[in-house]
Amino acid sequence: MKALVLAAGTGTRLRPVTHTGAKQLVPIANKPVLFYALEAISAAGIANVGIVVEPNADDIKKAVGDGSRFGVDVTYICQEQPLGLAHAVLVSQDFLGSDDFLMYLGDNYVGGGVTSVVEAFRHDRPSARILLTQVPDPTAFGVAELDDTGRVASLEEKPTRPKSDLAVMGVYLFTSEIHEGIREIKPSARGELEITHAIQWLIEQGRDVTATVNTSYWRDTGNVADILEVNRHVLDTTEGPGAAAGEVDPDSTLIGEVHLEEGARIVRSWVEGPVVIGAGTLITDARIGPYTSIAEDCRVSGSAIRSSILLSGSTVDGVSAIADSLIGRHASITTAAAGGDSHRLVLGDHTRIALAG
Ligand code: G1P
Repeated sequence: MKALVLAAGTGTRLRPVTHTGAKQLVPIANKPVLFYALEAISAAGIANVGIVVEPNADDIKKAVGDGSRFGVDVTYICQEQPLGLAHAVLVSQDFLGSDDFLMYLGDNYVGGGVTSVVEAFRHDRPSARILLTQVPDPTAFGVAELDDTGRVASLEEKPTRPKSDLAVMGVYLFTSEIHEGIREIKPSARGELEITHAIQWLIEQGRDVTATVNTSYWRDTGNVADILEVNRHVLDTTEGPGAAAGEVDPDSTLIGEVHLEEGARIVRSWVEGPVVIGAGTLITDARIGPYTSIAEDCRVSGSAIRSSILLSGSTVDGVSAIADSLIGRHASITTAAAGGDSHRLVLGDHTRIALAG
């Protein structure tokens, strides 16, 4: 069995961060969301992994490499244009051959891993098996309707009137029959070949399409609110390295789970976990946390930050209350020089900024 991880896609709802980096590399508790997927795949015993990337995906290739650090063997597959999930499978035909495969969307975070569902699929070997989660607003997802036996009776992509509250998660298990479905479908209204439509085709042919209703934590990290929420969840539920690898001066207070990576320094600061502070980052005269991940080589001084993610190399100086924020690489937020009474901004394209009062 192989795995196909989809890591193309433009991440428009995460601009401007995705202008300069892939959405699958946005860090959750200082680790790219894609890494959690690769760890889950490896834990499920799948070693042969194809990663579908867009043409200029050097950052993903650099971050993941040959996959050996995850215990997998990675093959990169280029999807020249973002023409949909089923199109990504289409361009991966040479890699997949006629093998069964796990398809995993690289921006999905799946709390309980995928080992049990992979085992169930290996045991039953239906034509396809999908994972579903109950969500409050299914209109943003593929939506499944189950029959009395728990089989999938129908699937619709982002319906305006959903037939259930069961959203299709970004984890699918397929036999090679899915390739037949993909050959039959036409592009959707959004111009994409939808995997949902290919699975619906299998259902219409009377093939065996089964579902697992997932009860553990799951999020598609497509927007900032969901990324911050996953960050909270991961900080709350996973064990970190503790504070030993960093340096904390006697005038600082650490409360709860505070994880310091190699060479992180805390000076005259109050840090309330769960928090992770990246390698080489310096925090001075600041209040950090809870629920905050600060990546490597950042500088935070005279500031307060909670429920936020800072990417590498960013600077925050003299800003009294930052909350619910995603701050990109090498971004700099400071107060205006003494006497300045206006906000001075140099913002990247598609930046969103909400100033307090
Ligand atoms: C895709 C699928 C959708 C699924 C979702 C899960 O949506 O088309 O069926 O529910 O992933 O993350 P997209 O992220 O392309 O809008």
